[in-house]
Amino acid sequence: MLLEDCTRELRGGAGALSPAKLSHVVCLTGKLAEMRDWYITVLNATVAFGNEQLCFLRYDDEHHRIGLIRHDQLMPMPQGPSSVVDHFSFTYRTLAELLGTYLRLKDKGIEPFWCINHGPTTSFYYKDPDGHKVELQVDNFTDEECDAFFAAGNYEENPIGIIISPDEWIRRFADGEPVASITQRPKLPAGVSPFDMIRF
Ligand SMILES: [Fe+2]
Repeated sequence: MLLEDCTRELRGGAGALSPAKLSHVVCLTGKLAEMRDWYITVLNATVAFGNEQLCFLRYDDEHHRIGLIRHDQLMPMPQGPSSVVDHFSFTYRTLAELLGTYLRLKDKGIEPFWCINHGPTTSFYYKDPDGHKVELQVDNFTDEECDAFFAAGNYEENPIGIIISPDEWIRRFADGEPVASITQRPKLPAGVSPFDMIRF
């Protein structure tokens, strides 16, 4: 094929393409071993490749979801809000999986600093050894239920969510309460702003 024909086809064939998937996150770190062990534990990951300089971690069909690269002269992590990436998020299949992971990590001394029912998701936020925020979440709704939740104005009323206690949810789960009932997001208490529900 002539180059001009090929480039015309590439440009015009399918129109603009979106990526097939989000593939991985890479962090520079001064604590390579500690960061590697933390992500192995939290994500139940394995080392796809690693040496003294870098490490690729996998936990599914992607060859690496987390990349860690050793760097010994890093700027300090900004304290407080900044324009660096705010958090990485990982989705579990069911509420039971998320609660089970919470218990597994708690046994190892890894606890979330913020547990919130956003509405569309239930999300537990952790901090890795370098201070990046890592969200472990589960979808509370089907896509249609999520659309209905937004259309009903719930997000205008409260775009943050309601802080929850995982241990209380585990008690309710053990008592046989249906997941759809546990994850039902209550209204904000009177006098409480959505922004009172944020933790950093
Ligand atoms: Fe998130």
